Amino acid sequence: MAIRTIREEGDEILRKKSREVEQIDQKVRELINDMFETMHKYNGVGLSAVQVGILKRIIVIDTGEPGEKIVLINPNIIKQKGEQTVEEGCLSFPNKFGKIVRPNEVTVIALNEEGKEIKIKAKELLAQAICHEVDHLNGELFIDKILPGTLEIINPEDQTN
Ligand code: NI
Repeated sequence: MAIRTIREEGDEILRKKSREVEQIDQKVRELINDMFETMHKYNGVGLSAVQVGILKRIIVIDTGEPGEKIVLINPNIIKQKGEQTVEEGCLSFPNKFGKIVRPNEVTVIALNEEGKEIKIKAKELLAQAICHEVDHLNGELFIDKILPGTLEIINPEDQTN
């Protein structure tokens, strides 16, 4: 396992669309392990492969709740319901936060790391994380969807006290 470099704001790759995974091989499983390790190191809830420079439709999520450590390969949101206004950030924008409107519930189908089709019905934080990460796979970033007037920029120098 290894920590990978997270691509940050301004890196063009973040605006690119990721490709479907055709074969879940050892290389893909290694990438998934590295993505979990990288996400945990930086205290993220979700990470997409594009954020470590790989344009494949792979997402890892760990909300910290039991059963919510999830791998989604080639995910497809098939249903969404309701709305939630939430505070959001992104490991690729380490000092930016803002409020955003997301569906309150989503149903997603995907493959897991064993290539088995899974279907997850998620709400609240998990639904938010799934939507945020699926957006990444389409080159869409939370920063474009932040509600006007809610963007907060944290100066790293303010975080030391
Ligand atoms: Ni993100």
